[in-house]
Amino acid sequence: MTDFIEGLPKAELHLHIEGTIEPETLFRLAARNAVDLRYDSVESLRAAYDFGNLQDFLDLYYQGMAVLQTEEDFYDVTWAYLEKAHAQNVLHAEIFFDPQGHTSRGVAFETAFEGVWRALEDGRERLGVSSRLIPCFLRDRDADEAKAALEQALHYRDRLIAVGLDSAERGNPPVKFKEVFDRARDAGLLTVAHAGEEGPADYVRQALDVLRVARVDHGNHAADDPALMERLARERVPLTMCPLSNLRLQVVADLRNHPLRRMLDNGLLVTVNSDDPAYFGGYINENYRAVQKALGLSNDELARIARNSFHAAFLPEEEKRALT
Ligand code: HPA
Ligand code: ZN
Repeated sequence: MTDFIEGLPKAELHLHIEGTIEPETLFRLAARNAVDLRYDSVESLRAAYDFGNLQDFLDLYYQGMAVLQTEEDFYDVTWAYLEKAHAQNVLHAEIFFDPQGHTSRGVAFETAFEGVWRALEDGRERLGVSSRLIPCFLRDRDADEAKAALEQALHYRDRLIAVGLDSAERGNPPVKFKEVFDRARDAGLLTVAHAGEEGPADYVRQALDVLRVARVDHGNHAADDPALMERLARERVPLTMCPLSNLRLQVVADLRNHPLRRMLDNGLLVTVNSDDPAYFGGYINENYRAVQKALGLSNDELARIARNSFHAAFLPEEEKRALT
């Protein structure tokens, strides 16, 4: 079974580049940039990765990204992810980054963007890994700040495929970002949003109806609403689910109750992804393995999920065909 998962060609559609900084790398970059960490060893940092909820994680995630200072840092972290993805038979990756997480602490948008981009180019050339880039707005900051971030991002319009929405969900409904998303779509970008991770099914509806998303990130709580489930199946809206993230952030108490099983059985277009692998204990194959075991997925079902990931990718059909 393990070999079967490794061998499956996969696309990864829900991956925050700032969530791929392994503790060892975090210490190395902190030393390189003379950034003071609140932890005195890799072990004590790892021990802190014991999250009660999304906010507990976000507190460490924003602290962790402070080690990213130079273009080289962004390059190194992105390259390390691409090597790992390549080793796990990821043929295509759509990568989130959080510009406001960097500009708010004095690192230029350009520094983050160019470092990540150069690694993606090298990944295409040297590893054959196809990729796209998706800047996300931080929903727990105000909409005007997101607007400013979008204007910066639009300088790189040709190198972006979509915009996204992440960070603390509860109390920050999609509708808060209607204008920003309207502007992004007017500029020809696709849209995605984290919805229904900790927030209710209604946030998934808002993401669809107000932000006009082409995919929903997570979407777990859509399972609470039968009419919404039926709509997601009928409209073939992809969901980028992240099982180990859900377990570690206590979105689900036990993977055996993960909604992916019911969604798959009801014909929803679900995919499996790693979210923030350095924090949640596994990359894409570990996520596939965890749900396979907990939900008893057959090889046919695993292959369907992997096929879904290409179907849901923001790639022209001919590029998808060339990959698979
Ligand atoms: N949810 C919300 N915001 C995030 C996440 C997540 O899973 N990962 C990084 N930022
Ligand atoms: Zn996420």
